Amino acid sequence: MSFQILGTGRYVPEHVVTNDDLAKLVDTSDEWITTRTGIKTRHIATDETASQMAAEAARDALARSGVRAEELDLILCATVSGDYIVPGLACLVQREIGASCPAFDLNAACSAFLFLLETAAAYISTGRYDKVLVIGAEQMSRVVDWTDRSTCILFGDGAGAMVLGKGDNYLGSHLTVRGGDEVLRMDTLPGISPFYTGPKSHPYVQMNGSETYKFATRAVPGEIGALLEQCGVEQSQVDWVICHQANRRIIEAAARRLKGIPSEKFLMNIQEYGNTSAASIPLLVDECCRKGLFHEGDLIVMAAFGGGLSSTACLVRW
Ligand code: COA
Repeated sequence: MSFQILGTGRYVPEHVVTNDDLAKLVDTSDEWITTRTGIKTRHIATDETASQMAAEAARDALARSGVRAEELDLILCATVSGDYIVPGLACLVQREIGASCPAFDLNAACSAFLFLLETAAAYISTGRYDKVLVIGAEQMSRVVDWTDRSTCILFGDGAGAMVLGKGDNYLGSHLTVRGGDEVLRMDTLPGISPFYTGPKSHPYVQMNGSETYKFATRAVPGEIGALLEQCGVEQSQVDWVICHQANRRIIEAAARRLKGIPSEKFLMNIQEYGNTSAASIPLLVDECCRKGLFHEGDLIVMAAFGGGLSSTACLVRW
């Protein structure tokens, strides 16, 4: 037993920041950002917090799946930019939507939503959990350094959610972690201990862009290839690919390597939202659902990569 997706939901802040807006803050241009990343705008929180965005996305997903908050058996959240370290985002959402089930967070950076799906599948497989709410929610604008032009142009805020129930539509997954903090990291608080003399922390996103790019362009097709082989599915059978939306060029490079999947099957909304980290995959899935793009029986590959370094892919039958 695995799961089926009963409904999806979303929240994105109203405030839209364009590349031209960013050019007033740092030394960049619409032309540079568009050609290097494909991003034109991002939605940025003005008074919303990650937990409010997560709760709105959760309410939306519950309404669209016809499930009441009281029926939930588990809430799982993924974030690197939650309101607090303690309590976790899932606990805040639980109270906000009026649920009473267990709730906890998971951190796997931009790959986290697929780790959530894997975790939910494992819980549902025990037979003790039926309805599981999974949410990726990020207020990345809180954790980027707005003076660093190489990172602040990339990220956006938002939340995406899914309500999962017992079913057989999660067909397989492939998850890889190459542990290390050299390429991509975000430190915790600097601390004020009078006894500590070790390295100082810088609690904002720090990234070696070109190393991340090289990693992603190899890892995404590698992960999808391994997943399909493991599931005995040909590339030509795949109906849609939902990749983590970090950079249009990364997705296009992955598509070029996966020659059996036509490039138009790689769906994108990065131009509007930028990289919303753990929220990017559920936001895109929700958008495609609303457009009526997915049909019953469609084979959908989801693939992500991020800090860890991690890379993941899973196969879902719609
Ligand atoms: N505007 C203008 N110039 C910028 C800039 C910006 N916003 N950011 C960096 N530059 C400059 C650099 O300073 C560098 O200048 P230099 O040659 O004088 O030193 C030049 O542009 C080229 O930088 P480079 O890093 O080689 O560009 P790139 O083509 O690799 O693109 C990224 C940079 C960040 C867009 C790209 O590496 C990338 O997308 N990496 C992956 C990031 C990612 O996916 N992160 C999330 C992981 S989940």
